[in-house]
Amino acid sequence: MTGETTLRGWKAIPKLDGGGLLLGHFSEYNGGMWQFLQRAYAEGGPIVRFRLAQNDMVLISGPEASEAFFRAPEDQLSNREAYKKSQTPVFGPGIIFDVPLETHMEQLQMMVGALKPQALRRYGDQIAAETRRAVADWGEEGEVDFLDFMGQLALYASARTLLGQSFRDDTTDEFAALYHDLEAGVNPLSYLFPNLPLPVFRRRDRARERLVELIGRMATRRRTSGEPGDDMLQGLIEARYQDGRALDDEEIVGLLLFLLFAGHHSTSVATTWTMIELLRHPGYLARVEAERVHLQNDHATEGYADLLRGAEQLNRGIQESLRLHPPLIMMMRKVMRPFRYGGYEIPVGKFVVQSPAVGHFLKEVWEDPERFDPDRFGPDRREDDNPFAFTAFGGGKHKCIGMNFAYIQMKVILSTLFSQFEFEIGEDEYEPARDSLIIAPVQPCRIRYRRRRAA
Ligand code: HEM
Repeated sequence: MTGETTLRGWKAIPKLDGGGLLLGHFSEYNGGMWQFLQRAYAEGGPIVRFRLAQNDMVLISGPEASEAFFRAPEDQLSNREAYKKSQTPVFGPGIIFDVPLETHMEQLQMMVGALKPQALRRYGDQIAAETRRAVADWGEEGEVDFLDFMGQLALYASARTLLGQSFRDDTTDEFAALYHDLEAGVNPLSYLFPNLPLPVFRRRDRARERLVELIGRMATRRRTSGEPGDDMLQGLIEARYQDGRALDDEEIVGLLLFLLFAGHHSTSVATTWTMIELLRHPGYLARVEAERVHLQNDHATEGYADLLRGAEQLNRGIQESLRLHPPLIMMMRKVMRPFRYGGYEIPVGKFVVQSPAVGHFLKEVWEDPERFDPDRFGPDRREDDNPFAFTAFGGGKHKCIGMNFAYIQMKVILSTLFSQFEFEIGEDEYEPARDSLIIAPVQPCRIRYRRRRAA
């Protein structure tokens, strides 16, 4: 670790060892973000700086640092400036990161409007139907790669809840392939050089153009037909800016892609990890199962999402899986005004980083942090008492607006599956593939199922 002298009495931020002259620590980071961030914390402590090509980054860790990070005003630590470069080619110009702050906040509010509790209940039932459809052709017993299964189910569920039944029914392999190309275009390299003339970025651009065409056509049809839908598209068609202006088709497509993007992969990976962790811990799974049976017997007539609101054991199982396997391991902000924290000053133009891959494993916050132990979130222990300790969904004003929806999806999918089948883990590794942006289990990750006999 190397330090430096600073001006005006601010302490020098320790610099992480290693890194080349030209690209700094980029090669190591690109080879495995998770290991890199953990090394940075292990060697640098609660504040440490490193360089990714031309960008100077400062990783700050611990609940207090996270609070300062998430609570900093937008004109000091900006998320738009941090993500604009990599995300604008995906969602298009004039969307979310590529707009002034007021428009950004208004667009976020419009998406929040499409995720109101009443709508979530409806989506919950739609997702239950999708899940039943996904397993309709399963036999009495068999084996599936659960990550593949979830990727597909979550994509269909997203298509249904975002764009309605007819779009979902016409969702062709083309839609899945386009989405795949778009997603592949967001990688560690895209944060630095999003427009390099590489095939992966060319495919991303072509996919966006085609998706704009497909979804834009749907939006126009819906507008002109005047027939309301029961999906998020409808919420966005009805949304208005404060000056009364409606969103145009380009904006609607951009926001829908943003929602699809924010929700799809993170939810499918988180559901996969929850399934794996529950199967690895049969004692805890038995509690989740007893709760499911009890809830279903007691509230047989209610909607599915409502029913699952009270599923505390499942809730904690999901939260603990998210703690151990946070899908998004690095949040970034660009410093627009000097950011001062703990006697350190981070100058304008640098990037500040917060990472659940570090914060979720701090020994001073979590008891035996490597252990799967959902009771840590129970009323007796409340290890997540500090709202900035568990940051799988971020925090502050940019906290995930899809969090409740994500929980509903995960609970509905898992409960629907468990009500029809018993599952068993196989001999695969089920280890995290720690070289990607969203950390899924290494494939294959097969699990076995057996249809339950009617009681
Ligand atoms: C397990 C699933 C999910 C996880 C772990 C997750 C995680 C996160 C995190 C960490 C952030 C904050 C990023 C930052 O501060 O830089 C975020 C923001 C966001 N998420 Fe999620 N998310 C999930 C599901 C969803 C779903 C299902 C949706 C919508 C359908 C969604 C929509 C959003 C949006 C729109 C934002 C941006 C909020 C803002 O910038 O103010 N997310 N999510």
